Amino acid sequence: MKLGFIGMGNMAKALAKGFIGSGAIEAAQVLAYAPNQEKLKTNALEIGFCPVASLKELAASADLLIMACKPYQIEGVLKEIGEDIKGKAIVSIAAGWDFTKYETVLPEGVRVQFVMPNTPAMVGEGVLLFEEKNTLTEEERAEVFRLFDSVGVVKELPTHLMEIGSAVCGCAPAFVDMMIEAYGDAAVKYGMKRADAYELISQMVLGSAKLQLQTGTHPGILKDNVCSPGGTTIRGVAALEEAGFRSACIYSVDAIMNR
Ligand SMILES: NC(=O)c1ccc[n+]([C@@H]2O[C@H](COP(=O)([O-])OP(=O)(O)OC[C@H]3O[C@@H](n4cnc5c(N)ncnc54)[C@H](OP(=O)(O)O)[C@@H]3O)[C@@H](O)[C@H]2O)c1
Repeated sequence: MKLGFIGMGNMAKALAKGFIGSGAIEAAQVLAYAPNQEKLKTNALEIGFCPVASLKELAASADLLIMACKPYQIEGVLKEIGEDIKGKAIVSIAAGWDFTKYETVLPEGVRVQFVMPNTPAMVGEGVLLFEEKNTLTEEERAEVFRLFDSVGVVKELPTHLMEIGSAVCGCAPAFVDMMIEAYGDAAVKYGMKRADAYELISQMVLGSAKLQLQTGTHPGILKDNVCSPGGTTIRGVAALEEAGFRSACIYSVDAIMNR
């Protein structure tokens, strides 16, 4: 099966690197097109995929296309290659372009699957949300699951949960980064070098997440386990409650969902 990336920006590069680097697909089976051909060729040398010179050439050569351009560019792309992709399948990672939206613009006979990835896919620790509603064949879906599994954890969600899934998996890495930065500031305030602070704090976040995932323990219990009576951690917990930490987390998601 030949895979064709429409666009080779940050997210497409992460996916292509993961797919090829993990051995899930041979580099020779991966094609990509992007308007800036110089940049595309440089990325091709680094990642190993085959650059192609036009959208039409990509559409003709690939069996399965990954729509990885910006959401506002999709209609233009479909206008250009709509006729050439009849009978083929598209896996789209563009925010907001779910199955229902594609249905309004896709030429008849083109199969589609919406997947929402997140940036930790760049290091093989992504969350890849697959919309349940799709028109891929069973074999295509299994193949796409296998490919995306190489860059993180694949999870299928019904359409009505894709937006909240995207908020807590696609947007929230920025909030965790803010938290890492803030604890970094605190560590610097008390004398630690900034580089050391980020290294230690990021490892702490990674380790805490891994402990929760591997043990399946409720996060509240993990928190309680660290809070000895009259100890230091419970004082920090109380300070976070006073500052509205939990509400701030929930409000950040409200801000996304109520846009
Ligand atoms: N980054 C994220 O965290 C993230 C997370 C989830 C989903 N996504 C989705 O992933 C998609 C790409 O995001 P990104 O952050 O990777 O964007 P990006 O880095 O700006 O990449 C966009 C790519 O699209 C190419 N492009 C522009 N016009 C095109 C056209 N007419 N035909 C084909 N390719 C075209 C660009 O090529 P040139 O550079 O040559 O112009 C570039 O390679 C978006 O739809 C976004 O919603 C991103």
